[in-house]
Amino acid sequence: MNLFPLVLYLLSLLVSVLGSLPAPVNLKITSVNFHHVLHWDPGPGTPPGTVYKISNRSKERDWRSNETSFKLKFKLHAQRETHVLTVQASYNETLSPESEKFFFTPYLDTKITSPKLSLAGCGDCIHINITIPKADKRSGIDDIKNFYGDDFLILWKKRNGKETPYSTENKSFTLPNLKRGVEYCVRVHMNFHLNPNTEPSAWECAFTSIVEPRRVAALLFLVLGAVTVFILFLQYTGFICKLKKTMPRGLVVRNLSIYLSIYLSIYLSIYLSIMPNYSFKDLSGLLDRITNKHAHLAAFSIYC
Ligand SMILES: *[C@@H]1O[C@H](CO)[C@@H](O)[C@H](O)[C@H]1NC(C)=O
Ligand SMILES: *[C@@H]1O[C@H](CO)[C@@H](O)[C@H](O)[C@H]1NC(C)=O
Ligand SMILES: *[C@@H]1O[C@H](CO)[C@@H](O)[C@H](O)[C@H]1NC(C)=O
Ligand SMILES: *[C@@H]1O[C@H](CO)[C@@H](O)[C@H](O)[C@H]1NC(C)=O
Ligand SMILES: *[C@@H]1O[C@H](CO)[C@@H](O)[C@H](O)[C@H]1NC(C)=O
Repeated sequence: MNLFPLVLYLLSLLVSVLGSLPAPVNLKITSVNFHHVLHWDPGPGTPPGTVYKISNRSKERDWRSNETSFKLKFKLHAQRETHVLTVQASYNETLSPESEKFFFTPYLDTKITSPKLSLAGCGDCIHINITIPKADKRSGIDDIKNFYGDDFLILWKKRNGKETPYSTENKSFTLPNLKRGVEYCVRVHMNFHLNPNTEPSAWECAFTSIVEPRRVAALLFLVLGAVTVFILFLQYTGFICKLKKTMPRGLVVRNLSIYLSIYLSIYLSIYLSIMPNYSFKDLSGLLDRITNKHAHLAAFSIYC
């Protein structure tokens, strides 16, 4: 036998007989970027189908919810006021006592999520754009930063370097007088003196000079490949270090591929040895070195 309807019936009987409903408990608010949602738990023994009445201190107004949460909408001026919120359960014309009071001051208590950054190198400088999170559409707040009126605190550094602070009110600005071809990292804090519940942006990094390391690396590979094919061609035509004439053709082709890999590894190891400070992150000087004749000659003599 299903006892559930019976329990429901007994509960409603209790409510109607005693005329008493338990007050809701555990009020809390999740508030992010001025999107405020009040949550609570039903008091023990609250029957299903109970609705809730949410009110503030002045009782100027109350709101109703048939769930255990409610999205609070405040006008712009009310974002700066302290609201004293209570919740009451309501069932079949019966009202519970008020819950404990919950104090909420939107602009001090709401959590502000992290800003996003986009960086672009400009030679000896870096352009930075800051995108700040948007406030809830119904909050009456167009721009969270203007609402609080504080500057951005920028921290910048070379990768693994020391942090330097910089303060600006602009969402779009430039860090000037940096070193060319070096990677810098930037992080932005929105230090609102009224609201400490803000998250800094992640560290974002960019090279100052326009030459992107990836492009240089790709170019390096292309040049290496072209040089290798050229050498193999010279070798095949017998212009340099002849292949053994007695070899059958299939073997020659197989040997060519072996030579190719040997040549490439010798070539790379020479480059790595003449460049102790070689770094995949700073390849801008690399193209000059590809024209270094000594490396080519050394590679040839080992290879032949
Ligand atoms: C609601 O309350 C009235 C008395 O106030 C009672 O007669 C009625 O049975 C109740 N209904 C429910 C569904 O509890
Ligand atoms: C709350 O009320 C709305 C209509 O106002 C209804 O669509 C919804 O199903 C109700 N939710 C619950 C949990 O009763
Ligand atoms: C009560 O709610 C009204 C309507 O949203 C609001 O204007 C008022 O500031 C609130 N008062 C308090 C004391 O929370
Ligand atoms: C910053 O924004 C401006 C205008 O929206 C745009 O022209 C520029 O390319 C952006 N810069 C970066 C580094 O994203
Ligand atoms: C902010 O931008 C304005 C122009 O839009 C400029 O005059 C001012 O110098 C900038 N401030 C900073 C700190 O970069």
